[in-house]
Amino acid sequence: MSFDVVFEPSGRRGRIESGQTILAAALRLGLEIQATCGQQHTCGKCRVTVREGFFEKYGIESRLEHAAPPDTVESGLIDRDATPADRLSCCTEITGDVVVFVPEESRADQQVVRKSARAIRVTIDPAVRKYTVDLPRPSLIDACGDFERLAAALRRSYGLDDITIDIDVLRALSAVLRAADWRVTVSVWMNREVILVEPGLVESCYGLAVDIGTTTVVGFLCDLRSGRVVATTSTLNPQVVYGEDVLSRLTYARTNPDGLERLRRCILEGLNGIIAGVAKDARIAPREILETVIVGNTVMHHLFLGIRPDEVGLSPYPPAVQRAIDLKGRESGLDMLASGNVHVLPLQAGFVGADSVAVLLAEHPYAYDYVTLIIDIGTNGELILGNRERLLSCSCATGPAFEGASVKFGMRAAPGAIEKVNIDPITREVQWKAIGDRSWHRKPHAAGGARGICGSGIIDAVAEMYRAGVLERSGAFHQGLATPRLRRGADGKLEFVLAWASETAVATDIAVTADDVRAVQLAKGAMYAGAKLMLERLGIERPDKIVLAGAFGSFMDKTKAMSLGMFPDCDLRNVHSVGNAAGDGARMALLSAPKRREAEEMARRVEYVELSAESGFQRAFARAMHLPHMVDGFPHLRKYLGARPPDPVPKQRAAF
Ligand code: FES
Repeated sequence: MSFDVVFEPSGRRGRIESGQTILAAALRLGLEIQATCGQQHTCGKCRVTVREGFFEKYGIESRLEHAAPPDTVESGLIDRDATPADRLSCCTEITGDVVVFVPEESRADQQVVRKSARAIRVTIDPAVRKYTVDLPRPSLIDACGDFERLAAALRRSYGLDDITIDIDVLRALSAVLRAADWRVTVSVWMNREVILVEPGLVESCYGLAVDIGTTTVVGFLCDLRSGRVVATTSTLNPQVVYGEDVLSRLTYARTNPDGLERLRRCILEGLNGIIAGVAKDARIAPREILETVIVGNTVMHHLFLGIRPDEVGLSPYPPAVQRAIDLKGRESGLDMLASGNVHVLPLQAGFVGADSVAVLLAEHPYAYDYVTLIIDIGTNGELILGNRERLLSCSCATGPAFEGASVKFGMRAAPGAIEKVNIDPITREVQWKAIGDRSWHRKPHAAGGARGICGSGIIDAVAEMYRAGVLERSGAFHQGLATPRLRRGADGKLEFVLAWASETAVATDIAVTADDVRAVQLAKGAMYAGAKLMLERLGIERPDKIVLAGAFGSFMDKTKAMSLGMFPDCDLRNVHSVGNAAGDGARMALLSAPKRREAEEMARRVEYVELSAESGFQRAFARAMHLPHMVDGFPHLRKYLGARPPDPVPKQRAAF
């Protein structure tokens, strides 16, 4: 049996089988609803409203009873202020015709991503090169095979020895040579294998570099002769509907019989969308892409290759493979030259994936004497520390707080997300700016469009709450403050209101709760402790330079991040945001075959520090939970934190 389902306000509608959940129906109709936990029934972010009545314009009688009643899991998860019509879409099965309203805060809007490519310094030496050759026609005294004739011409004209040929190209070779009257352009991969033979002289030569992020996928179409970026496209990773972080995707792949295949198909759809986008912008056909270089964290890497990532989620977290992989375009499922090559960069270890290797390539701390700390922030914090002498890496489970999840009003970095916050240390009045706003929201109670808080916004907010004395060093709220913004929420716990309901698009106050602060402390504490243990291994107190990699790092205020204690003290002039360094590294590997060897070598040289096995980790973590740290000094924050009111509670009584 199937039913009519209509989603508002988008108007998407379709016939849905009985027993499907509302979320599954939305996915089938191409509508995205926030599903932060990947339908694990733990996040409560997928809330929708079932509407009641006869809807003439749809010809539908929608009733609350047309959705199966909530079970105990759903009832325990949904907000206390919810009405019977409010349901969690991943829990609610459809049993009749329904009209479903998706509220603003549950809509999964497109993430705001930085698309521009940074200038990179690399000597152009790609793996694919084109050679034009004129072949002698076969005759009775020279009747060797067509491929042997081609190989001899490449040896004679370009010194290429021991050439092989892709089987598909071989199948078409005789016809192509004759149709071209024996003048052809040959694309050769690694000066080893013929991957394309085209009639006449063809100069254009394209490759694609892709960074598969857990949230965002970015592709750079490059001219392999000049290194120029011809087109760039990014998209939300379509796998987000199966969970926002790598652990939810791991769980989905493990617990659903067709989970792995579904996730693989999903990312391939996204990647082929990127290929279609860049090809259209550059006015080329997708099959003109001769090579693709892929980077991504260990889970994205495995899912793209169709490898079960189960072991990556279990201690001691071994990946299925660490070395770089080359496979054919046709084997990868990518819409590119079928006989072309897909190069997947190597993994370092466990959760330190090919994206970290790409960051390493782009920042090359191994080329310098000074010590660099590279922090790639996402749902997992990946850290690399070192110089030409020694390189260390570690991975910290930061949780999804920096991505806006696990925060009560958390949302992705999409329009309407509060991204910047200032708090007056005297009045504790708040100024904020949401993504899409041209200017700061200064006037209290003026209409605004805030819908939630994104990752950089929660960092700004907690840092400012600490600077303004709203939070103590322990992370607890300063209870004696005289401001209506500090109050008890519906759950009886303290919270601080950033935006009043009248200033938001969600008709409710947007506040930072004690649990949100705690989530930020846990995330930043893990990162700081990881950095601290690696610094101790190198026998130094602080790094000379800090590099914040990842799109998130570009939006983050480095002073506020340091004042939270996300990373150790450093001269702020030596703290740099480099944007999508993983994408830069992917481009380097695309444009330079020697860089791939360098990547392989460095991936093996880095010493991986397994934090859970370090005896000092718990102590370092507990100390790093304080704002900015329990004992470490931050001389470079004197100016920013100078006016901070003192804590009312003596340090030794502070508790977490
Ligand atoms: S509770 Fe529904 S997706 Fe998380």
